Amino acid sequence: MIVPADAGGIRRAAALLRAGSVVAFPTETVYGLGADAFSEKAVAEVYRLKNRPSWNPLIVHVPDVAAARGLAREWPEVADRLAAAFWPGPLTLVVERAPHLTQVGADTGTIAVRVPAHPVALRLLEACGLPLAAPSANRSEGISPTTAEHVLRSLPDVPLVLDGGPASWGIESTVLDVTGPVPRLLRPGALGLREIREVTGKVLLPEDVADGSARPSPGMSKRHYAPRATVVLTDEVDLALVDGTVGVLTYETADVPGAEILSADPREYAADLYAALHRLDDAGVATILVKSPPDTEEWLAIRDRLGRAAA
Ligand code: TXA
Ligand code: MG
Repeated sequence: MIVPADAGGIRRAAALLRAGSVVAFPTETVYGLGADAFSEKAVAEVYRLKNRPSWNPLIVHVPDVAAARGLAREWPEVADRLAAAFWPGPLTLVVERAPHLTQVGADTGTIAVRVPAHPVALRLLEACGLPLAAPSANRSEGISPTTAEHVLRSLPDVPLVLDGGPASWGIESTVLDVTGPVPRLLRPGALGLREIREVTGKVLLPEDVADGSARPSPGMSKRHYAPRATVVLTDEVDLALVDGTVGVLTYETADVPGAEILSADPREYAADLYAALHRLDDAGVATILVKSPPDTEEWLAIRDRLGRAAA
């Protein structure tokens, strides 16, 4: 059931969370499926509802840096600088997990934490007083939800969805591992590499760690973020292929009737991407032709998601 994120809605959501149930809530990136991060029962319900493989650990959402530190065995100096620059906001930090904590889902010895920037998420964290494990509120491998309606369509059994309107970033947080001497990108996301480098200097990219020694982000499976329709990336959309069974997702302008046309600005493109994929799925097309975005760093997260949607 979708509930407005007013004082009454937040009270109800907090009560459900404290009782060990799950609640979907808005963040600035995408909607999350929240649960008390250290309730085995609540976390198990998140995995069950999403059909998420048990090896894929969850991000824990906390209200502030102090709460994040409390979950870490070690809080590196670079984590402090990153938190000061970007929290609340779309950056997830992977740190060594405090030894007194039970595992959150899959056991990696580490914990992923972030302070979300959405006012509803922050009010909910305050009202329930719990760290909230929250993966994106969609079935595993599906498109992440950027509206409350998307959540219910993907996860009809979620007892309560707090409606905070459309997510402003529309793409998931950037996941950065700060357990090593040089921060390592585990998942490109809303926060750009350029901004991160201004704070940290060098950042290792997944391809920089060729010897397999570094822990990968378990969730970066090849197929992910995928609509029902088959996604095909293409440099030029071939109009001869377009008919009622083929949808088109492009940017800037296009002479393709019925195409979803997104912005040529990567931030605006990201904000609309998942909603556009949801609309194309709703239109019942079998194939979605997607014009490949430019091969530049600004488009890294978008290219990552489209590549996985097409896998
Ligand atoms: O923007 C976001 O991050 C959204 C909102 C709801 O906060 N959440 C989200 O969660 O995207 P999820 O579960 O869909 O993606 C979390 C990613 C996965 O790739 C997972 O493998 C990785 O973070 N992750 C979680 N804990 C980790 C850990 N301890 N070490 C390495 N990667 C981890
Ligand atoms: Mg997800």
